[in-house]
Amino acid sequence: MRKKVAIVGAGNVGATLALFVTNSGLADVVLYDIVEGMPQGKALDILQNTAVLGVKSSIVGTNSLDDLSGSDIIVITAGLARKPGMRRKDLLMANAEIVGGIVKRLAPQCPDAIYIVVTNPMDVMAYVTLVLSGVTRQRVLGMGGILDSSRFKTFIAMELGVSPRDIETLVLGGHGLYMVPLVRFTTVKGIPLSKWLSKEKIDALVTRTREGGAEIVALLKTGSAYYAPAQSTFEMVKAIVLDEKRMLPCSVYLQGEYGANDVFNGVPVILGKQGLEKIIELELTEEEKSAFANSTEEVKSMIKILKEEVKI
Ligand code: NAI
Ligand code: 2OP
Repeated sequence: MRKKVAIVGAGNVGATLALFVTNSGLADVVLYDIVEGMPQGKALDILQNTAVLGVKSSIVGTNSLDDLSGSDIIVITAGLARKPGMRRKDLLMANAEIVGGIVKRLAPQCPDAIYIVVTNPMDVMAYVTLVLSGVTRQRVLGMGGILDSSRFKTFIAMELGVSPRDIETLVLGGHGLYMVPLVRFTTVKGIPLSKWLSKEKIDALVTRTREGGAEIVALLKTGSAYYAPAQSTFEMVKAIVLDEKRMLPCSVYLQGEYGANDVFNGVPVILGKQGLEKIIELELTEEEKSAFANSTEEVKSMIKILKEEVKI
């Protein structure tokens, strides 16, 4: 039987992901949003696109969470974007309310679901999802590292004039300013990046990667990136549906790995039909360890605010 993928939030990321999953024919999609008619309209448009492509797929748009019952994968993209005058903490509270409400409601009706969390601040929303769903850590994954790695690859490819296909890289840490692009693990056709570019140049590309999301927000003015985020999320959906055992950087709940506890942060994992199947522990240098610790602290400080104010 085909897997059922529920996408919660039919905005830019959610609808684009719905397009990618439906076009692939890999699974049946249910696209949910609170805005009346909007997910239904987008779903119908996407379905008509499959007729152009000649793909036999199924997608339904809905305003009822009941239609998500029995989902195998739930992707959470619902939430608010930061508006002028809104503090980071306000966004944190608002999105925790939205994500928490959805997860509490869906958990009993989707007992076997694997959750992929996209809504920002993503690492914290993944924590909220784990706590309120009551599922094991294998079944809650945050999307950030694949996107951040794709940005680093893009900037390297642009700088060197090579195909991003020939670049291997890894960005660890939370999906925020303290993310940890691992230059030591970055190669072009197996040749270390340090042989291709000066330290100054590499540092500039790392900084641009860290600020990759903000660069797009500044250009778009009315929202944030969604094509690469949706494609990155699709890679996770595909790895689970096809049991690909891909090694991908995802945000997962850490219980001692990388020296971190009781926090979500981005690390390399093996992704397959069980969700998180294995965490790959790399040996980090002291500098990399300290950068990773800064990133976990950033996430922990937001979790602390949530615990104090909304008692998750
Ligand atoms: P968007 O504003 O286009 O879409 C958000 C959608 O959520 C809207 O359609 C809205 O109606 C819906 N929504 C709000 N409350 C809801 C509720 N209670 N139930 C169902 N739907 C609800 O935003 P976009 O661009 O799709 O981004 C979505 C989220 O993903 C944001 O928090 C954004 O910051 C985050 N994001 C995270 C990335 C990552 O790498 N983790 C990358 C890109 C975006
Ligand atoms: C991004 O990195 C906004 O988190 C989103 O583009």
